[in-house]
Amino acid sequence: MTHPQPVPAPDAPTVAAVVVLAAGQGTRMRSSTPKVLHPLGGRSMLGHVLAAAAPLAAGRTVVVVGSGRDQVAAHLAQVAPEALAVVQEEQLGSGHAAEVALAAVPDLEGSVLVVNGDSPLLTSRTLTGLVAAHDAAGSVFTVLTAEVEDPTGLGRIVRDDRGAPQAIVEERDATDEQRALREVNAGVYVADAGTLRRVLAGLGRSNAQGEQYLTDALAPLVAGGAPTAAVRAEDPDDVLGCNDRVELAARRRALNDRVLDGLMRSGVTVVDPLTTWVDVTATVGRDAVLEPGTHLRGVTAVGDAAHVGPDTTLEDTEVGEGATVVRAHAVGARIGVRVSVGPFAYLRPGTDLGAGAKVGTFVETKNAQVGEGAKIPHLSYVGDATIGRGTNIGAATVFVNYDGVAKHRTTIGEHARTGADNMFVAPVTVGDGAYTAAGSVITSDVPPGAMAVARAPQRNVAGWVRRRRSGTPAAEAAAAAEGRTEAPGADPSESSRAAHDS
Ligand code: UD1
Ligand code: CA
Repeated sequence: MTHPQPVPAPDAPTVAAVVVLAAGQGTRMRSSTPKVLHPLGGRSMLGHVLAAAAPLAAGRTVVVVGSGRDQVAAHLAQVAPEALAVVQEEQLGSGHAAEVALAAVPDLEGSVLVVNGDSPLLTSRTLTGLVAAHDAAGSVFTVLTAEVEDPTGLGRIVRDDRGAPQAIVEERDATDEQRALREVNAGVYVADAGTLRRVLAGLGRSNAQGEQYLTDALAPLVAGGAPTAAVRAEDPDDVLGCNDRVELAARRRALNDRVLDGLMRSGVTVVDPLTTWVDVTATVGRDAVLEPGTHLRGVTAVGDAAHVGPDTTLEDTEVGEGATVVRAHAVGARIGVRVSVGPFAYLRPGTDLGAGAKVGTFVETKNAQVGEGAKIPHLSYVGDATIGRGTNIGAATVFVNYDGVAKHRTTIGEHARTGADNMFVAPVTVGDGAYTAAGSVITSDVPPGAMAVARAPQRNVAGWVRRRRSGTPAAEAAAAAEGRTEAPGADPSESSRAAHDS
């Protein structure tokens, strides 16, 4: 799924290229899915990074892939078809990965943003701020940093007495004094492409992990007197990486909090932010209410003053203004204005409910066009159907759409009244204003205005209970109703049964 990308303001800072480092194994996730493909808030980690970088209007986007390269490349083709996937055959470190990326775009000049693929909370604001600071400082290498409570596992930023950055030191290679520093490397860098190429080519792998570290690019530039910078992120949460599933859950929670805060500030009531989950790709209108247990996924759009939940999941679904959706699950559905859905409804792809329609309790729909004001209130399956406006579908109706080989469609006209417990055996058409009798199995078309009766006539066998169930409470009740007294325990002879039963 691709999503519209924000258009940058005319004077917004830009870069020539964005390089995303996404070749690492992500061993700590303990997963057969590459780390950067794990989803949160409606996008993969990689998708979030690409979306955050989109306003930088880079001419080139290069994603370094390695572990699970086929999966990552296939995902990229879906979410960012313009991006170039470049293979890093062996994961020799972040510096090596950046070098491989730059080798794939040999003609590239100007600024390049290099970013770790596992930073799903990065915002466009943070990235444009970093690029603006880099440009303003005339820097050739600028690193984004954050002050954190617990710097464990992260690279430390070493500054001199005057605050100028000197080096980025990985925790494993740090002295005790450096380890005490709480300013850390966010894994986001802006550099002049030519300068970065040159410095990366000179980096060794003499560190605790035996890898070529991108972080080692800073010290030699400082030593050579090149202008460099280290810029603190305003919100340290923005730059948090994600290395295992405990961190993934924490990042997902943080992202959700951010989305819900935005919705509440724009006029949405979120009754219980702890149990409400909204993807970054979903939208919710003013004065809408999200009850506890609401999940809005994908490109779901909830209209103004709509009421959703409790316990409702909507995926790629549109909800019109003033609609009510209670305890429902919907995928690929369109719910019109002032429609009422649920409690306990399942709307599947191709469901399209016209204004003021109702889909009630224990109702499943699929590929169903339901006209304005039409009602399917109870216990029904509506598959491959068109229902005209103002029509009422009786309780416990099944649209029999599948003959075991192919699916067929049922069309019901406007203002029809179908009886309870009907089967519409498709393909079949019921005309405008027609009625069908309760319990009917409708196998042929019903003309407009007709009453279709398609059920066996009723037959009453008089006295059956007296003869066949004598001595039971039923027989006593029947006898009382007929003004007789039933002999308790009386059991008619076999011959009298044979004579009377038919
Ligand atoms: C890295 C930084 C650390 C910083 C932290 C922020 C280095 C050496 N360290 O540590 O200073 O505080 O990020 O989260 O960069 N990758 C490749 N190819 C490789 C190795 C890594 O593409 O050969 C990619 C990974 O997929 C990942 C990124 O580079 O997206 C960083 O690698 P990772 O192993 O996660 O580094 P950290 O230990 O988190
Ligand atoms: Ca990491």
